[in-house]
Amino acid sequence: MTTITIEQAGKFDGQEVTLKGWLYNLRESGKLLFPIFRDGTGIIQGVCALKENPEAFESLKGLTQESSVIVTGKIRAEKRAPGGYEIGVTKIHIVQKVPESTPFPIQLKEHGVDFLLDQRHLWIRTPRQAAILRIRAEAIRSAREYMDGQGYTLTDAPMFTPAACEGTSTLFEVNYIDDQKAYLTQSGQLYAEAIAMALGKVYTFGPTFRAEKSKTRRHLTEFWMLEPEAAYVEFDEVMSLGEGLVSAIVQAVLKNKPRELETLKRDVTKLENVKPPFPRISYEDAVAVLNKNGNPAKFGDDFGADEETIISKEFDRPVLIHHYPSAMKAFYMQPDPDRPELALAFDMIAPEGYGEIIGGSQRIHDYDLLLKRLREHHLPEDSFQWYLDLRRYGSVPHSGFGMGLERTVAWICGTEHIREVIPFPRMIYRVYP
Ligand code: 4AD
Ligand code: MG
Repeated sequence: MTTITIEQAGKFDGQEVTLKGWLYNLRESGKLLFPIFRDGTGIIQGVCALKENPEAFESLKGLTQESSVIVTGKIRAEKRAPGGYEIGVTKIHIVQKVPESTPFPIQLKEHGVDFLLDQRHLWIRTPRQAAILRIRAEAIRSAREYMDGQGYTLTDAPMFTPAACEGTSTLFEVNYIDDQKAYLTQSGQLYAEAIAMALGKVYTFGPTFRAEKSKTRRHLTEFWMLEPEAAYVEFDEVMSLGEGLVSAIVQAVLKNKPRELETLKRDVTKLENVKPPFPRISYEDAVAVLNKNGNPAKFGDDFGADEETIISKEFDRPVLIHHYPSAMKAFYMQPDPDRPELALAFDMIAPEGYGEIIGGSQRIHDYDLLLKRLREHHLPEDSFQWYLDLRRYGSVPHSGFGMGLERTVAWICGTEHIREVIPFPRMIYRVYP
């Protein structure tokens, strides 16, 4: 007997196959049973008749939701069934029966989100959550494929760090060995800069940590970031790299995960336009757009969720906002030579209110200027000696950015909150399960 996955069912029309999975749902109608099976690749409806398959019928009848089963039967096209195929069950082997005394806690009805988050280890079994996690995987796969194709070498930054990269207010302090203090990394950037001076063009992809006290639909305390960093690459080029990366991811998900997008009922027409070039507007023009829309923003203000939403509404694809005031941005950002009060920094704002998915800049490569900025930001010079070394030994202009994976995937999936797009979200008041 051929063992297949549900995803492959269409290729086995008319054939007898075996599926290994779980009972997702069971409808009983007299002498007919209509189970729905899932195996992680999709769901398939089954039919089992008492008259033709009495043994299978008896095993399946009354079987509890999420019991694990190995099912044998014939695949046939059925337009009305989800996925377009069903299985005529002839044999069923129960691997584990969920006891009737402890039924699976998640039913097919609506549950509150706090309940679902407490049951996250089980919630991920539902078709919607499984589709999101498969899209996340495709986003990662295609992002790496794109970066590799652009000549960037994958590398890794440490998770334990001696100092802040993105401001001291969101650092997680760790009690390191023998009372030494360390922090969980906020960004691999500073290390990626060192590796870029060794390898040229590199990117890191890993978890990053921020003690975010904000309880919004865009913030996690642990999230994944892809961070390219390239020697001899200047500001315009790094913006184009961000544009190419995000387009490649969106187009790959559209092409390779259409069933998952359908499961999520995502309006894909909103994603189809996501191709270069993306609109680019300066921070000052963005302020003007806000004012035009009745928002009182003025030069020097940071943009919050409301501002980002107003600006992104003007465009049908992500927008790049560049040349932010230096004073509101990170210490390492290169000033514009013509207007030093502005930084060669950019954010990419996703459409549909999903907010900032990329933050990046050209980096300061001058030793004296970097030292001055470290002092202005009251950063511990001792911890940054290695970083200053990069400006002592063969310093070159270089640039990079960080793309937040969860924000990007949440936008592609159209989820309400980014907590759904990571298997086990870590948020202000949640570290369980
Ligand atoms: O803009 P950020 O803070 O930039 C940096 O960390 C730079 N050092 C990156 C670099 O240049 N290599 O963060 C980058 C991105 C944001 O645009 C956002 O997508 C995501 O990381 N991000 C978060 N995602 C989820 N939860 C949070 N709390 C996030 N904070 C930032
Ligand atoms: Mg940012």
